[in-house]
Amino acid sequence: MRLSTPYYLIDEARMLPAMERIRLVQERSGAKCVLALKCFSSWCAFDFMRQYLVGTTSSSLWETRLGHEKFGGETHGYSVAYADDEIAEVVSYCDKVIFNSLGQLDRLGHHAAHISVGLRLNPEVGHSGYELSNPICQYSRLGARAQNLPDNIGDRIQGAMIHVNCDNDDFGSFSSQLDVVEKRFGALLPQLKWLSFGGGIAFTNESYPIDDFCRRLRDFSERHSLQIYLEPGEAAVTDSTSLVVKVLDIVENEVPTLVVDAGVETHLLDVLTYNFTPELFESEPLAKDAKDLGSRPGHIYRVCGRTCLAGDHFGNYAFPRPVAIGDELRFPNVGGYSMVKKNFFNGIKMPAIYHRKLSGELRLAQQPTYEDFREALTHTHLV
Ligand SMILES: Cc1ncc(COP(=O)(O)O)c(C=O)c1O
Repeated sequence: MRLSTPYYLIDEARMLPAMERIRLVQERSGAKCVLALKCFSSWCAFDFMRQYLVGTTSSSLWETRLGHEKFGGETHGYSVAYADDEIAEVVSYCDKVIFNSLGQLDRLGHHAAHISVGLRLNPEVGHSGYELSNPICQYSRLGARAQNLPDNIGDRIQGAMIHVNCDNDDFGSFSSQLDVVEKRFGALLPQLKWLSFGGGIAFTNESYPIDDFCRRLRDFSERHSLQIYLEPGEAAVTDSTSLVVKVLDIVENEVPTLVVDAGVETHLLDVLTYNFTPELFESEPLAKDAKDLGSRPGHIYRVCGRTCLAGDHFGNYAFPRPVAIGDELRFPNVGGYSMVKKNFFNGIKMPAIYHRKLSGELRLAQQPTYEDFREALTHTHLV
């Protein structure tokens, strides 16, 4: 059956290898994995993912509620800053709440007396290819640094969260972070019951040294008598989801440009934010800033979106054959940070979401309509 484009397709069979790796890491290391909802919140897939991850972690009241309602299991609440009027509701959904700062712990910690309380720590070491997503950047507001912790902090929290990685596929760098954590927070660790190492660790990649990783986590957890958590987002959904688009027009300005029925800012926002080229099925990505595209041999195209943004540019690609209007293109690895960030800019058609279960059964999980667009803009009530 040919589905109407544009659409995202979440495919459980393609998600399975990452899920099985997550299960293996939990079994071998003793760590527990919670899904980072900020990366992927498409709850049509939660019945499947729940078999592998113990619960969810969140960035806000609404994500916490979603995790509680739709995923279940362990629900961890975290936010860069909670508002006074939402913290009571947050703690009603979660078993662990993690405050980002000592100030928030001081002001709001009493609401969480009946659950496990954690504090985000900033060990001042980390690994990120982009300054924008580097939690240990200069003046970072993310987490408390060791020199600012009061002596009695261990009496006030049961756990801690350290998230300092982004797409880190270098086990050596992760391992050396743990050395620093032990040095910086050595006095605190024995007082804690749990410690989360956050997300951003590419441990579901086939080439990641999973035995070393599991051993390191187990040793760390045994040495300090800690339950370790990991918060995979991207690592959980890598390779699971495609965005399928159709070529609506081909315009020529030195290089043939395919204009497709989707957009970068609207449907794959991180491509714009981080200026990378997403994989495109059956084609070879070329440098985004290449100056010689027009003079290269072969079927070279720029692939662009149909929003008004001049830079609505997915990337430059070498195709094995000429592309025609009406052809479909498939970005095969866009599960993370796409559907959670999509928006109605320009009023262009929002992709549907299809969900293929492991059994092969295909379901339409969401079909956005004109009414969804209209209601997202204004929905007036008398106050
Ligand atoms: C606190 C925290 N945990 C987990 C994640 C998930 O990271 P990733 O999707 O890179 O695995 C993030 C991402 O920003 C985060 O800020």
